[in-house]
Amino acid sequence: MDKTWWKEAVVYQIYPRSFMDSNGDGIGDIQGIISRLDYLKYLGIDVIWLSPVYQSPNDDNGYDISDYQAIMDEFGTMEDFDELLEKAHGRGIRIVMDLVVNHTSDEHKWFIESRKSMNNPYRDYYIWRKGKDSQTPPNNWGACFGGSAWQYDEETAMYYLHLFSRKQPDLNWDNPNVRKEIFDMMTWWCDKGIDGFRMDVISMISKTSEMPDGEVNGLYGDFGPFCVHGPNVHKYLQEMNEKVLSKYDIMTVGETAGVTPEQAKLYAGENAHELNMVFQFEHVESDGKYGKWTDQKMPLTTLKKIMSHWQTELYDKAWNSLFWDNHDQPRAVSRFGDDRPQYREISAKMLATCLHMLQGTPYIYQGEELGMTNYPFKNPGDFRDIESINAYQEWCVDGPIPHDAFWPCLTFKSRDNARTPVQWDDSAQAGFTAGTPWIAVNPNYKEINAKAETANPDSVFHYYKKLIALRKQNPIMVYGKYEALLEDCEELFAYTRTYQNEKLLIVCSFCDHETVFTIPEEFLDMPCLISNTGQEYDRKEITLEAYEAFVLHKK
Ligand code: GLC
Ligand code: CA
Repeated sequence: MDKTWWKEAVVYQIYPRSFMDSNGDGIGDIQGIISRLDYLKYLGIDVIWLSPVYQSPNDDNGYDISDYQAIMDEFGTMEDFDELLEKAHGRGIRIVMDLVVNHTSDEHKWFIESRKSMNNPYRDYYIWRKGKDSQTPPNNWGACFGGSAWQYDEETAMYYLHLFSRKQPDLNWDNPNVRKEIFDMMTWWCDKGIDGFRMDVISMISKTSEMPDGEVNGLYGDFGPFCVHGPNVHKYLQEMNEKVLSKYDIMTVGETAGVTPEQAKLYAGENAHELNMVFQFEHVESDGKYGKWTDQKMPLTTLKKIMSHWQTELYDKAWNSLFWDNHDQPRAVSRFGDDRPQYREISAKMLATCLHMLQGTPYIYQGEELGMTNYPFKNPGDFRDIESINAYQEWCVDGPIPHDAFWPCLTFKSRDNARTPVQWDDSAQAGFTAGTPWIAVNPNYKEINAKAETANPDSVFHYYKKLIALRKQNPIMVYGKYEALLEDCEELFAYTRTYQNEKLLIVCSFCDHETVFTIPEEFLDMPCLISNTGQEYDRKEITLEAYEAFVLHKK
């Protein structure tokens, strides 16, 4: 297995709108990020994944781009971006950009042209089809954010495809001009000195030419078999690799919902010449009750099975990316841990241990290092996210599910849980803004904030800092081979890592009561690398506290 910097790195995701506001307009911005670089340096992360900062009308908070080579007015200017890049690099921090090229905004100049006429030179940049008639779209596919995946456009009396919102028309990757424009744009960013790309829904760029109805699931048909891992996706990524990626020392990670380990090896195999790694979603997407919506935690045995499968299948063949949450997911501690006050800190540390000891590149989502929690939503009007707003409308207001049944599911999984402002201190608006934030601050900011966390050596923050530092000193954390223990246990997630003549034992309790663990012979009297309690592990039978985690190191 090749050693590379991006395998050894820890990535920190910034969702700029909610990170830090520098000018009091209530919206996070690039100068805000610059003002917190020292905080990130102190935490010890190596790479920032910057969610989109490009020009955008913000139908989907920047994931609808109207100009790939300009910065969103609310976030600053290209000079601000260049300053960010320079100051991050000055601190040894790399910057990976979000690349959203499955679709553009409908306000992108290509789309404005495309919709004008059937013979416009940009017509074929997007996916246009005749409807069955002006009331009936070409097929029954549903969009990810609700409604049909087709939008009728009066100008030419045809429909365009949008797998997300109707303001996010899908690009036609089969058009070589589209690919060329995208590759040129990527080259422009690489030449600026950025350090990589996180590729938004990259597994959806290639569609089948036949577009039949999909299997109906809820109100609409599933586009999956025709648009996800489509016929030419690998061809196009290999072309991208050849024309752009291979020319730079950058890291790439593809967002590939629904991916299996077999497919991941095609996208990110050691010799696949496509991407460095992909995000898989089995551990965050196999739990829905109404579509993706649920209020249930996944059983631990299911979670372990998924994680173990990925650890084993990709070993020596491809590279894992590791995450509990991101801007599309609820807060890790609320979802996989326990956010009740007495368990929040210990379970947040346990989750961090469990993830950072696995093989792969760990991703920390902003605020996770503070143990930030889900937001206590009270009313539908509390939401800002297009997905949550549309889901409430479609499932409850217009649909069959009673409010009381749907509400707990919506609030447990809403993307807005992750999008409330980062809690910097205990002053008004958690120090995020001097004005009114675009989305409410979590009321628990007086207890949970970066100022308190950095001041307390036993905090979640300092625990993350320690884990990151340990990764730098112990190649076994990066390269060691994974082996699962206690696969049928519903309380403990335990595994080992083996590298050269060293071995790690990782034991994490996922339950709110005591459990007993028997230390395997070979780890008796071995030193403890990290633990989230003060306990000694110097005997065979260990009684673990609720959410205790520890790592023993045999050398
Ligand atoms: C990805 C992004 C998500 C966005 C969607 C459409 O899943 O992570 O935030 O809404 O793509 O671009
Ligand atoms: Ca601002």
